[in-house]
Amino acid sequence: MNCVELILKWYCDNKRMLPWRMDHDPYHVWISEIMLQQTRIEAVIDYYQRFMKRLPNIKALSIISEDELLKLWEGLGYYSRARNLKKAAIKIMEDYDGEFPHTYSDILSLPGIGEYTAGAISSICFHLPEVAIDGNVMRVYSRICDLDLDISNPKTKKQIGNEIRSILPENSGDFNQGMMELGEVICIPNGNPKCDLCPVKYHCKAHLNGRESLIPRKIKSKEKLEEEYTLLLLKCNHKFAICKRKEGLLKNMWEFPNYQGFLTYEDIHRLFPDLLSVKLGITNTHIFTHKKWFMNSYYIELDHYIDSYLWVTLEEIENDYALPSAFTPFLEELKKNIHN
Ligand code: ADE
Repeated sequence: MNCVELILKWYCDNKRMLPWRMDHDPYHVWISEIMLQQTRIEAVIDYYQRFMKRLPNIKALSIISEDELLKLWEGLGYYSRARNLKKAAIKIMEDYDGEFPHTYSDILSLPGIGEYTAGAISSICFHLPEVAIDGNVMRVYSRICDLDLDISNPKTKKQIGNEIRSILPENSGDFNQGMMELGEVICIPNGNPKCDLCPVKYHCKAHLNGRESLIPRKIKSKEKLEEEYTLLLLKCNHKFAICKRKEGLLKNMWEFPNYQGFLTYEDIHRLFPDLLSVKLGITNTHIFTHKKWFMNSYYIELDHYIDSYLWVTLEEIENDYALPSAFTPFLEELKKNIHN
């Protein structure tokens, strides 16, 4: 058997039983592929099942409110993915009569769907001869061929895509998924692939040359932009203040009121001269793709509501409002201290 056949056989014998693999319905594959971007498989399974229960088809997704959609997505991060899902669902309802499009170019034209996702859906659901090149596939391929390429360079992705397209078997979907899965469970990143378990260990040039831990080459990531914030955990009559983010990162998500920079007690007293009590709260650091937030907080008790905020109980925040993960440690801390 050649390399392609070995990977296909390995995938057939070893593929994980995942909820979106029970059929080849493009809606199921689409939602799972979007959730899997930047998120581990184990973390996605529960989200996927909850999502399908609430939104079993494209029509349901096209009419859900943005607030409820963001709540369903809460914790997965990268919220523009959820907004694009809804936009794409509306487009499918309007332009394709509610039926998921069948060609690579139509699929690629949907909001939030790039070359990788279009290739994955085209090959898995419609058996089209398309490649789906993600980080796993690039790592597996460059190790098998002992290619010392910079995989962060878009030209490398193009080159690897062209080479894989030229060897793609008829069941392109299984082969693409076999390559991804090999990269996720065996040909893992950071220098420790499990080569003894690999179906292509006798074909893999990097392994034969003892270079598997050197490939792909590590490129230093860009410095993250660092920002400082002070969160105001404002309490009045067992209710807490939240507000909606108007712009930028995490737009339209809910948050605790906050100010840029680290505020002092003096600043707090200037902002709320009639406060009942104030105490320094916990700190948290949150890392996004291109940003790093350092946050500190103050617990502040007031004897009147401030109209510009929404005042809700902790249970309501937890159940009804999409609060990004950056803020959840503060919510957890408030829950612990509510009776103090
Ligand atoms: N990672 C993302 N999508 C995948 C798929 N369809 N199969 C295996 N791993 C994946």
